[in-house]
Amino acid sequence: MKIQIINGPNLNLLGKREPGIYGNEGFESFFESLKTMFPEVELSYFQSNVEGEIINKLHEVGFLFDGVVMNAGAYTHTSVAIADAIAGIKTPVVEVHISNVYNREEFRHKSMMAKNCKGIITGFGLKSYELAIRSFL
Ligand code: DQA
Repeated sequence: MKIQIINGPNLNLLGKREPGIYGNEGFESFFESLKTMFPEVELSYFQSNVEGEIINKLHEVGFLFDGVVMNAGAYTHTSVAIADAIAGIKTPVVEVHISNVYNREEFRHKSMMAKNCKGIITGFGLKSYELAIRSFL
């Protein structure tokens, strides 16, 4: 089974960025734990702050991989283009968030892409990614 994790803008700063909300761990070290946790899964990781690069990655894996775990960061709330890319590919996408977007500012309550996703996992810290991977198994 091949699963692609995609992180959007500012998630390269995990561990340094607003640790009270997003925690103290960077994604690279967490990705190593995920690989140990799921030895049977071929996991790939991609992060970009650029909307078009995220779309290109969705197109690249979207007819080959078995699942995408996607934290689009703030693009979740704004990007029609990423929502359309998710609708246009075959691979199911699970939307994840580290924080519980529903107990934060109102603009974070709206996801442009949720309706095109298989499901949403929000608010479990980095464990949200683990739960999303489990949903594909
Ligand atoms: C986030 C929530 C978004 O609202 C925010 O813009 C992020 C991170 C999360 O993982 O909690 O960048 O997607």
